[in-house]
Amino acid sequence: MHFSETGISQKFNLLPLEIIENINLSLLDKIYNLNDAIKKKMKKHIIDELTKSIWFDKKILELKDDYYYKNFYFPILEKIIKINNLQKFPEATFFVRVNVPYINDYFAKWHQDAGTFLYSAYDKAYKFKSYTLWCSLTKSEKNNSIEFVEKKYYKNKVYNSKFKKSNRHGNITFDKCEIPFNEKKIKTLSNFFNPGEAIIFDSLIYHRTVREGNNIRVSFDLRVFCENENEIYENKSILSQMKRFVFKRGNIKLF
Ligand SMILES: [Fe+2]
Repeated sequence: MHFSETGISQKFNLLPLEIIENINLSLLDKIYNLNDAIKKKMKKHIIDELTKSIWFDKKILELKDDYYYKNFYFPILEKIIKINNLQKFPEATFFVRVNVPYINDYFAKWHQDAGTFLYSAYDKAYKFKSYTLWCSLTKSEKNNSIEFVEKKYYKNKVYNSKFKKSNRHGNITFDKCEIPFNEKKIKTLSNFFNPGEAIIFDSLIYHRTVREGNNIRVSFDLRVFCENENEIYENKSILSQMKRFVFKRGNIKLF
């Protein structure tokens, strides 16, 4: 089935081998140290510091550069989803994720990415149809990657969410998301990824982090949008809530 029907692509190679090898070389010690700290059950602040060393890894942060959008993200994504003129949000929609096993800390429960545009200083972006690119930087297995709910189980629109302050993820994160499906009655989709393999999905697709394995997974995700199509919201009041976040955020620096 094509992307326009499923809203989720097949996995594909996003980054050339040389780039992904350099990133993994740069991560080698950092992941080793984090793994060691988890096994030795070190204090949370030590684990947080080691996690941060991955968030701020210079090689990973290079992936935010326009060079990558121009030469990899836009051309590859436009071909896969068959939508042209994709645009990048002006700031802060690039996130490095470190999925740390055993740590009972924040990780994403079922949610739609549509609605997270409060991260962007571009106050019009949330109006338009948007897509999430998710790329594994290390190897990830089905038990520590990302899990999706097929779109046939809910309507094609943004459901209501509430947000709360967070020390992570741009200072704001989802508090409660409306779950329009019965978890016991759905079929979910998950996959394994080699380093540099990615997937793109419509930001209306419900998804969550899978944290059942023993290994650390590092990935990044970013959002792109298309001005040709407007997003559909369940309730217009969510828009004023989002606008407040957009305007309030001002110049807060994000990682
Ligand atoms: Fe998400």
